[in-house]
Amino acid sequence: MRGIVFEDGKAELSNEVTLREIGPGEVRVKMVAAGVCHSDVSVLNGTIPYPTPLVMGHEGAGEVIEVGDGVTNVTAGDHVVMTTLASCGMCNHCNRGMPTHCPTSIGNMTTPFTVGDKPAYNFAALSVFADEVIIKSIQAIKIDKEIPLTSASLIGCGVITGVGTVFNQSNIEARHTAAVFGVGGIGLNVLQALRIRGARRIIAVDTLASKESLAMEFGATDFVNAADGGAVEAIKEIVKGPEGLWFSQDGVDFAYDCVGHPKVVADCVDATTWGGTTVVIGVPGGDAMLGDIPINKLNLVDRKITGCRYGSTKPQQDIPLIVDLYKQGRLKLDELVTATYPLEEFHTVVSDMHEGKLARGVLTFD
Ligand SMILES: NC(=O)c1ccc[n+]([C@@H]2O[C@H](COP(=O)([O-])OP(=O)(O)OC[C@H]3O[C@@H](n4cnc5c(N)ncnc54)[C@H](O)[C@@H]3O)[C@@H](O)[C@H]2O)c1
Ligand SMILES: [Zn+2]
Ligand SMILES: [Zn+2]
Repeated sequence: MRGIVFEDGKAELSNEVTLREIGPGEVRVKMVAAGVCHSDVSVLNGTIPYPTPLVMGHEGAGEVIEVGDGVTNVTAGDHVVMTTLASCGMCNHCNRGMPTHCPTSIGNMTTPFTVGDKPAYNFAALSVFADEVIIKSIQAIKIDKEIPLTSASLIGCGVITGVGTVFNQSNIEARHTAAVFGVGGIGLNVLQALRIRGARRIIAVDTLASKESLAMEFGATDFVNAADGGAVEAIKEIVKGPEGLWFSQDGVDFAYDCVGHPKVVADCVDATTWGGTTVVIGVPGGDAMLGDIPINKLNLVDRKITGCRYGSTKPQQDIPLIVDLYKQGRLKLDELVTATYPLEEFHTVVSDMHEGKLARGVLTFD
């Protein structure tokens, strides 16, 4: 079968990928659609290091073609969204509703594939840029067949990460204001979740002016072009506190880094008001440091910085919730799919992403 295989610093389509046999508690899925996330680009450029050869991709949807012994949640023919959380369901973290803290949900690399005669790793317990994948049954969430799988494919990372961060971590109320740095697949979903939760002012920030109309479509009330610097000042002009304070209250209650750069995190902190929260979603290179943040911004007054992995999601709760909001017309999925591409055009998606042409590009497997 086919797969996008990363080795020796480059990704190429291989027709020599094979997949091991299915085991108990596992599900074999025929891929139908897979989104390309910036974390895939980060594998290509070394920001996210991984052992190789590696079959890429971690955001997808498809059709179940086989289930192993003991699987009861899905059956052959079902349409599923896949999650990267191969969580155990039995530890204290799983049981208190935090599967993103489950120790088995990250870093357990295995080699279910071979490429030629070499064992090949899966990525994020998925590898959806291949014709078929084998996953744990807890990673397969059944969805209605009426949902287009191209749209559904994006739920598994971009949507769950952006929407989940707001729904599960931010506790947004109508009085709140927010700034979202980075209007890509993640940022757009933070924007639409803020709109759903009713934040009164939602400021989108990007270095590309071309992202403005997309940002407004997804719920932004204002757009700030960060290309020439000055984004923080622009945000503080939009959300002003009282004049003449010794320590200014200008700025937003929540600032989201959906880029993955230390300067953006520092700008987020600078853009928050007293009591404001900076949420780091972006993933910079492994050794990036939080170097330029004035510490007294935190104590004067009560600013916080927090990280969020994968929207702190509980997939069995959040994926049906996202699908329901989509079916009611309250959450956009179709509009996230700017274009579809056959699997062999993976590199075209990456270059279209770099040129800022995409909300998301989706690979298809016809
Ligand atoms: N925490 C998690 O669990 C998680 C999950 C998925 C992705 N991510 C990370 O989130 C980040 C965003 O991913 P994506 O798929 O949305 O990326 P994307 O490439 O689709 O979008 C990034 C956007 O940021 C904009 N941008 C670049 N530099 C900027 C700057 N200095 N200021 C403002 N905007 C800027 C780009 O123009 C683009 O619109 C990546 O670092 C990715 O690895 C994290
Ligand atoms: Zn992702
Ligand atoms: Zn667990």
